[in-house]
Amino acid sequence: MDIQDNYRRLLGLWGRIDRQHNQVIAATIPAHSTVLDIGCGYGSLVHELCQQGIDAQGVEIDPEAVRLSKTLYGDLPITLVNAEDIHAFPDASFDVVVLKDAFHHVYNEHDYRKSFGQFWRILKPGGRLIIFDPNPMFILRLARKLIRHVDPEAARPVAEAVLREFHFEIGGVQYYEVIGLPLSGGFVGPVLVPNWRPAHSAVAALNHGLSRLFAVLGLGSSVCWRYCLWGVKPITR
Ligand SMILES: C[S@@+](CC[C@H](N)C(=O)[O-])C[C@H]1O[C@@H](n2cnc3c(N)ncnc32)[C@H](O)[C@@H]1O
Repeated sequence: MDIQDNYRRLLGLWGRIDRQHNQVIAATIPAHSTVLDIGCGYGSLVHELCQQGIDAQGVEIDPEAVRLSKTLYGDLPITLVNAEDIHAFPDASFDVVVLKDAFHHVYNEHDYRKSFGQFWRILKPGGRLIIFDPNPMFILRLARKLIRHVDPEAARPVAEAVLREFHFEIGGVQYYEVIGLPLSGGFVGPVLVPNWRPAHSAVAALNHGLSRLFAVLGLGSSVCWRYCLWGVKPITR
């Protein structure tokens, strides 16, 4: 990971698009929730939620990411720990657990059953587990081939199966992201738009509009780069 490059990208168009993703997630979080962001990276979602007055904190396994979060956002409440080992958080202490672009790592590279056991334990009855992750449709796979980016996949049916395995009820799903990620390059791809604020605003506005349009047309799963799925911990269990 080139931390300096990631820092620059977060200050450019990708930062703008990343904020849009954060706002999509924030819109699925009930008011006055306590939130734990798993694999929070540089802390942009924790920062966004705290700015909105939400009681949010994060956990992250990578010390470099936690260091950069301090440069970007100051002293955010982020704990350096593997999601499998979050024993220090008390039972039923969060309304919401979020995995933003982290589920495919937790699922493929770690013991996801251990992590999900912890997520279940720390969530209050009625609490929400939100998974916002790459939607591995044709265009995303092709783009990854073109830029030779290798990343494990965990499509929406996999996420749903894991939620069901842990007795979550499926609460809802939506798809988002059409041009913002490919044009900004995210953290890994080429940046295809000049570093000029009006251009960033235009891309962000069009991205939002297209995401909405494809959702209405029922084409989100075929063309959008992210899915946002949430499960609810039943109150009776
Ligand atoms: C693709 S990044 C996404 C970061 C951040 N959520 C964002 O959206 O910018 C995935 C992050 O999950 C972290 N991660 C992966 N497995 C983890 C685990 N088992 N426990 C905690 N963090 C983990 C990685 O270190 C990385 O920062």
